[in-house]
Amino acid sequence: MASERPLVIVTRKLPDVVETRLRELFDARLNLDDKPFSRDELIAAVKEANVLVPTVTDRIDRSVLSQAGPELKLIAQFGTGVDNIDLDTARNRAVLVTNTPGVLTEDTADMTMALILAVPRRLTEGAALLKSGSDKWQGWSPTWMLGHRIYGKRLGIVGMGRIGQAVARRAKAFGLQIHYHNRRRVQAEIEQALEATYWDSLDQMLARMDIISINCPHTPATYHLLSARRLALLKPSAYIVNTARGEVIDENALARMIENNELAGAGLDVFEHEPAVNPKLLRNDKVVVLPHMSSATLEGRVDMGEKVIVNIKTFLDGHAPPDRVHPAMF
Ligand code: 8YV
Repeated sequence: MASERPLVIVTRKLPDVVETRLRELFDARLNLDDKPFSRDELIAAVKEANVLVPTVTDRIDRSVLSQAGPELKLIAQFGTGVDNIDLDTARNRAVLVTNTPGVLTEDTADMTMALILAVPRRLTEGAALLKSGSDKWQGWSPTWMLGHRIYGKRLGIVGMGRIGQAVARRAKAFGLQIHYHNRRRVQAEIEQALEATYWDSLDQMLARMDIISINCPHTPATYHLLSARRLALLKPSAYIVNTARGEVIDENALARMIENNELAGAGLDVFEHEPAVNPKLLRNDKVVVLPHMSSATLEGRVDMGEKVIVNIKTFLDGHAPPDRVHPAMF
């Protein structure tokens, strides 16, 4: 006999507590093996589900969505970014999309700050060197492993939303001067609290910064926002940190410029063609690379799961889900 409860298909393994609750509330089809869905599996899922719970690793594009069954009413993304979902096609097919904003702000900002510290201070380079063999360290020397001071330097934040502001709060405490570019200028009180300088022109800001932090979403408008032309505006002594989306930077141009000493280094948690990483970035000591783990705390992932559940439950109860995504937001 067919279940009376709505079918919720979850594409990846989620924390146990989240899966237990999903099972209690819905006819939840979970992915306990955590093997990412193939394209065919995704299509089969949208054909059958009432609610799909995907993540950044699922490409829900026009051709997948166009095969969705009439029962698919909600895509409750487990994540804040929704660039893996074709929002226009979803809207045209009357499929609502929700996400999980807010709950991964502080974790992502922490990791951004960690990279802002790690890259100029050569943290991973020093740690890796020592672990690679006791003969690698001949003892302290006044001129060995010198990095660069961050105190007093200019940080340019690209995207001053929740995460950008959380990065600014941390960076201010470390003595960095806060500059930012955003589609809209933030409220005066926020600017004052952060002692932040707004730059209407991204180009002009880039040319004057010591460190750039990317904190905007990936949208058609921000794809390669940091193009080869814009990267060339940066000082050769500048660093770039990206915990947003790889697609915002022209990764090939970035790798080439760091290799040619046209930029001082980068701290990257995200990549243009994940899970592939440009080999030039991997082999360069001036680049700290992380495998998309800025929001990877147990607390964060449980909170994200809670948000997904609240969005589904509210929607199925006939109300507007709290984290509805409108295409115009992105
Ligand atoms: C998530 C993220 O872990 O939420 C986001 O936008 O980038 C990540 O931190 C991932 O996207 C989950 O779908």
